[in-house]
Amino acid sequence: MAVITEIEDLRRIYKRRVPKMFFDYTESGSWTEQTFRENTSDFDKIYLRQRVAIDMEGRSTKTQMIGQDVSMPVALAPVGLTGMQHFDGEIKAAKAAEKFGVPYSLSTMSICSIEDVAANTSKPFWMQVYTLKDDDFMQRLFDRAKDAKCSAAIITVDLQLLGQRHKDLKNGLSAPPKLTPASVANMMTKVQWGLGMLQTKRRFFGNIVGHAKGVKDPSSLSSWTAQAFDQSLNWDRIREFRKMWDGPLIIKGIMDPRDAKEALNVGADAIVVSNHGGRQLDGALSSIRALEPIVDAVGDKIEVHIDSGIRSGQDVLKAMAMGAKGTYIGRAYVYGLGAKGQEGVTDALNVIHKELDMSMGLCGRTDIHDVDKDILMIPKGFSGDWAE
Ligand code: GLV
Repeated sequence: MAVITEIEDLRRIYKRRVPKMFFDYTESGSWTEQTFRENTSDFDKIYLRQRVAIDMEGRSTKTQMIGQDVSMPVALAPVGLTGMQHFDGEIKAAKAAEKFGVPYSLSTMSICSIEDVAANTSKPFWMQVYTLKDDDFMQRLFDRAKDAKCSAAIITVDLQLLGQRHKDLKNGLSAPPKLTPASVANMMTKVQWGLGMLQTKRRFFGNIVGHAKGVKDPSSLSSWTAQAFDQSLNWDRIREFRKMWDGPLIIKGIMDPRDAKEALNVGADAIVVSNHGGRQLDGALSSIRALEPIVDAVGDKIEVHIDSGIRSGQDVLKAMAMGAKGTYIGRAYVYGLGAKGQEGVTDALNVIHKELDMSMGLCGRTDIHDVDKDILMIPKGFSGDWAE
């Protein structure tokens, strides 16, 4: 078995092992993929300050996200269709996260249901919730999360409609996959993946099928979102969701200080600066560029987290030094899951932890709480200026 030293190792194995349809789903951004690309390349524009001869023994990456202990400030982001990347993928990712001491977020669009993940794990996870038109479904989703003892809800506010990802449309992405000559031919070359899938009954959107009314094609993400998602969403509606859930709340998908202030008024515990991994508005700023103005606007009143583009511990370090109180990885752990199941998710967490811990030390810091902008060189104009 190949030695795993970086996230890219996992991505290479993942690409070989998982059907093209699901690899493409992960590895796409919307339209031209400008934002998807810049989410990662913009991290490279920030430099870390090397210091020497500073005692770097006894380092710690332990902290809290929304008051909950974490072994490092890296949660697993909600990712749709995770159970199509590897059989029972959500349960496996959640188990890897709980062993590592980081939060796991379950997507509404998961294959394993809330109840299933709760029954197969021993620590609470976070439940991600989309903003749908159907009030009964929404209330039920929050109630189900409460019954499953979820320790936070994440409301995703940047998906009133689904950004177009060309490959998903061309591949006819669905769960379970539709059997076309092309998809069958491709799946036949992914033997381990197929044998795994044959072992499980979990092949449908577990939170949707049997729970959502009037969904004509529950296998297709694009038709389901087009039917069920609320394009008329506004902040009053989000306040209604806040009333449906009285536990810790995270609002995900904030890219503008004005929206950050609105989220603050809803009474959230944290916001996630996120452009949905470059999968929604193509041409949006990378989230690392959007972070600083949002921290400046609300960072003293609410926890600011970030996702989109994090593939290394150095990226985590940069985001934390810029003022984030937590980060999320999505693709970085899905590569691991598709490559090697639960063990691969653990590999991804190990890689990122080691990079974070050692890079922090090489910057002359020993405690993640002491990491600040002093260790960064941020290019002038990095956050840019919007037209007034
Ligand atoms: C769903 O959230 C997606 O980005 O595909």
